[in-house]
Amino acid sequence: MHNNERRMILLNPGPANTTEGVKQAMTSPDICPREREFGEAMLAVREGLVRVVHDGDVFTAVLFCGSGTAAVEAAISSVVPADGRLLVVANGSYGQRVAEMARAYGMAHDVISFGVGGWPNPEAIAEKLDAGRFSHLFVVHHETSTGMLNPVSEIAACCHERGVETIVDAMSSYAGLPMDVEALGADYLVSSANKCIQGMAGLSFVICRRKTLESMEPVAGRSLYLNLPLQHRFFETSGQMRYTPPVQVVYALAKALEEYFAEEGGAGRHRRYRQCFEALDGGMRGLGFRRLLPEEQLSGILTAYVEPDHSRYGFDELHDHLYAKGFTIYPGKGAKESTFRLANMGAVTADDMRAFISAMAETLAEMEIDTLYGEPV
Ligand SMILES: Cc1ncc(COP(=O)(O)O)c(C=O)c1O
Repeated sequence: MHNNERRMILLNPGPANTTEGVKQAMTSPDICPREREFGEAMLAVREGLVRVVHDGDVFTAVLFCGSGTAAVEAAISSVVPADGRLLVVANGSYGQRVAEMARAYGMAHDVISFGVGGWPNPEAIAEKLDAGRFSHLFVVHHETSTGMLNPVSEIAACCHERGVETIVDAMSSYAGLPMDVEALGADYLVSSANKCIQGMAGLSFVICRRKTLESMEPVAGRSLYLNLPLQHRFFETSGQMRYTPPVQVVYALAKALEEYFAEEGGAGRHRRYRQCFEALDGGMRGLGFRRLLPEEQLSGILTAYVEPDHSRYGFDELHDHLYAKGFTIYPGKGAKESTFRLANMGAVTADDMRAFISAMAETLAEMEIDTLYGEPV
């Protein structure tokens, strides 16, 4: 059973903390999702999702039931044609996952790998594009494995000069950073409900040009369920999702969007995240922790810190001490140096981050860790 009195502060990169309003939206009255009223709610959600990154009606959003990977897979499997070729930019596990998808579909592809935490140099990518005949490129915007903000608009410019379309995974940056889908250069932008937009897990979406979708045909041998043109057409003609939607998660996302725009049309959300990052990262560095990445590569939404080099340090012990104090921290993911990760997304404040720093200082004392990397704390 849950302890409903307890508020955990989640520093994992989603599902993120949600507000009371979003939680309560999940308890909306039962409704058959084939009712027009529910279709209208979904249409409003689709329009709201687009409005976060686009001021106009050129783009639309296609919803899928499933976690973020579902929408990434829908985009990859639907848009790369049978005679196309995909270039996957990989500098963390989310790029690598797309290479796995391409293999699973038997899709013609190449991977340009920079290593986990390596900078995806646009010049190297341009050279790779020139060396092959690619129709599409996949790149992650915020590589959550390390907290790196990839130079997507520069990479996209290289693609567009060469007639290559871009599929951009903005899972953990959408709604957390100021973003315009056209300025970013994303032909297909993918995200999910449970990260910086602060809804519940179970819905993901692809934002792309309405016109492109209208002329897109399903590719033989790909997914039936995660099919972008079929999902779009069904929405447009019936106002419904093709298969059972997560009704309560849709209502939660509607509320989450309302709350996003209530934060000064989104600008307040971005500022609050920045303030949280400054409180969190300033505090961590004040305690003596080192970041994995240089300042100019940081997303400001998740930061990877190098694990202490101390005989009494263990991630699980650190996690458990902090969990008992009401905070969830997250392990590292594949970088050259071993790290743990702290995100500052969700319905959290700079005060929450300062409370975390006090809890971290207390925990280090409890674990008798007096040096992090050989120097006194
Ligand atoms: C950049 C990125 N892409 C894809 C995913 C996969 O999303 P999900 O775990 O919701 O399937 C994540 C999850 O954290 C992510 O951060």
